[in-house]
Amino acid sequence: MTESSFRTRITDLFGIRHPLLLGGMHHLGESGIVAAVVNAGAMGFITARSFDGVDALRSDLRRCRALTDGRPFGVNLTLSRRPGANKDVAAWIQAALAEGVRHFESAGSSPEGLVEAIHDGGGILIHKCPSVRHALSAERLGVDAIALVGMEEGGHPGDNQLSAFLNGAFALEQIRIPLVIGGGIGNGRQIAAALALGADGVVMGSRFMVASEIIAHDALKQRIVASDAGCSTAILASLGDTWRVLVNDAAREVQRMEAGGARHHADFGDLILSSRTRQRVYQDGDVEGGIVSLGPAGGFADGIVPAAEIVERLMRDAASAARMFAGRFDWAAPGHVFPA
Ligand SMILES: Cc1cc2nc3c(=O)[nH]c(=O)nc-3n(C[C@H](O)[C@H](O)[C@H](O)COP(=O)(O)O)c2cc1C
Repeated sequence: MTESSFRTRITDLFGIRHPLLLGGMHHLGESGIVAAVVNAGAMGFITARSFDGVDALRSDLRRCRALTDGRPFGVNLTLSRRPGANKDVAAWIQAALAEGVRHFESAGSSPEGLVEAIHDGGGILIHKCPSVRHALSAERLGVDAIALVGMEEGGHPGDNQLSAFLNGAFALEQIRIPLVIGGGIGNGRQIAAALALGADGVVMGSRFMVASEIIAHDALKQRIVASDAGCSTAILASLGDTWRVLVNDAAREVQRMEAGGARHHADFGDLILSSRTRQRVYQDGDVEGGIVSLGPAGGFADGIVPAAEIVERLMRDAASAARMFAGRFDWAAPGHVFPA
């Protein structure tokens, strides 16, 4: 386990060694991968929406607690814009707080109503969003930190057209609370660059899809390992619901249907349902058969290895890049965010 050379407001806020967060991952973000990144010194979030009910979530939280030996881990609260789809969110928060969880990531829509419940229970909330405007609203609502993602993010980056670093540079002029950036980050150089930009850390997802602990079929991981920077594409932008995903037959079919005029989610039948992805791709290994959230950072994956190895390599490479950068300037003194 490497010691981190980086201390930021995020490592302090989350009580972690590395300024690295593994964001929520629908149907994959459970105790196995979350415990693995937490034990490696980063932060991970169990994705509440993926569980069939609060009892199932509670038992996975208990499993994670047993696996992490007292280290803090988090819960992701993915909010939906569909009417009625957020009815369990309050119960997720109460179950998590009762199980000792103090770190929450919200995403998907405004965190209004969550902040008080989490703060009253002694927890903290980082809100993930794709635009500076949403970040400023969340800051006003009292969230403790922001995860700002760019258009390269695997999953749902919204209709924002800005890259992670451009978004981050704009945000750092305006946001006062701790800020991490994410989207397209898959190697250590980029982590060093995010810290050089002034961010307090990074949020990642795609690069960890090949971790041994991820509960997806090896055929999918091998496909990602064999892929490159062109591994992802955007679908559903024509519906105002941009989704960055693995290039496969299912994604191409969705794009053909959009080109043919499909404009409602229902037009795509079960092709875009996460239940289909979970069954066909994650469980059965049919890598063409469903939509898989993935961004170009997946192109950095070069082997199916434990998450701890990914974290260690990322942080080692980040430290080398930061040292190289600091060495270019006479004024870069020890004690700065970069290692001496
Ligand atoms: C397979 C997969 C599933 C994801 N599911 C969710 C989710 O359910 N909720 C959420 O807030 N973010 C989700 N994300 C986004 C990640 O938490 C993270 O913000 C994103 O992966 C960062 O961008 P990157 O993929 O370019 O590293 C998912 C990402 C991936 C790759």
